[in-house]
Amino acid sequence: MRQSQTREQLWAVIRNWRRARFRIALVPTMGNLHDGHLALVAAAHEHADRVVTSIYVNPTQFDDGEDFERYPRTLEEDQGLLEAAGCDLLFIPDDQTVYPYGLGDATRLTAAPSLANILEGACRPGHFDGVVTVVARLFSLVAPDVAVFGEKDYQQLLVIRRLVEDLGYPLQIVPVATVRGVRGLALSSRNRYLDDAQRAAAEQLNSVLSAAAGRVAVAPADWPAVEQEARELLEQRGLRVDYVAVRRAADLAAPEAGDRELRVLAAAWSGSTRLIDNHVCKPV
Ligand code: PAF
Repeated sequence: MRQSQTREQLWAVIRNWRRARFRIALVPTMGNLHDGHLALVAAAHEHADRVVTSIYVNPTQFDDGEDFERYPRTLEEDQGLLEAAGCDLLFIPDDQTVYPYGLGDATRLTAAPSLANILEGACRPGHFDGVVTVVARLFSLVAPDVAVFGEKDYQQLLVIRRLVEDLGYPLQIVPVATVRGVRGLALSSRNRYLDDAQRAAAEQLNSVLSAAAGRVAVAPADWPAVEQEARELLEQRGLRVDYVAVRRAADLAAPEAGDRELRVLAAAWSGSTRLIDNHVCKPV
């Protein structure tokens, strides 16, 4: 596996691959990799000849300094995992490479408000502006044919799809299903902060959302009651809920009669760890 830190090093490799007419996939990450990320790399291999994984903990998408500072950085382990997963190039830019004029004078993007200012965006104002700002930079630097994102961050996936359509990036977005632990907890770098009791509570998120999705599938018009009941169940089981929402899968609008695909999305805290998850739901 090759590794590059600067734009020049990255471009030298990409130029050669383009000359060889290779199809290139990008897997953007913030590191601290787990099986969920490795599933993204595996999907990238299915869609391209060469796979670039980026690791960059992007300061512009964190709400406060604290979460950014404590975000786990495990580069050596990540390198080993990516090597074993057959990643072709690891791009590990520093702040200067991603934001050459500094954060204070960086060109920034604003994510589409209808998608970005609700749910996660309402809880974490500006978060998706930071995401699209860095993802656009990665797209410009790597110029991939394909970019791979996990469905665990479902709202992020939609925001990035919109970015690609709106700005006309000639690339395909490939979504990958959420990877879960044995008791259903969606894999996340933040899970490492959970102690045993908090983990047990966190595991309720999947079962409650899965049951809620099942109920909405058979009685879609009941979605407001399902949201309320799911919230209460999660709170009874020890989680502090930011939101539980049943939304149309395509644009996160409120469900309407006849919608074919919905998503039940939630964010909740177990101790001081914030969890997000979602389940698909196809009304019968
Ligand atoms: O999902 C993530 O890890 C990040 O939001 C991303 C897409 C790598 C942008 O920093």
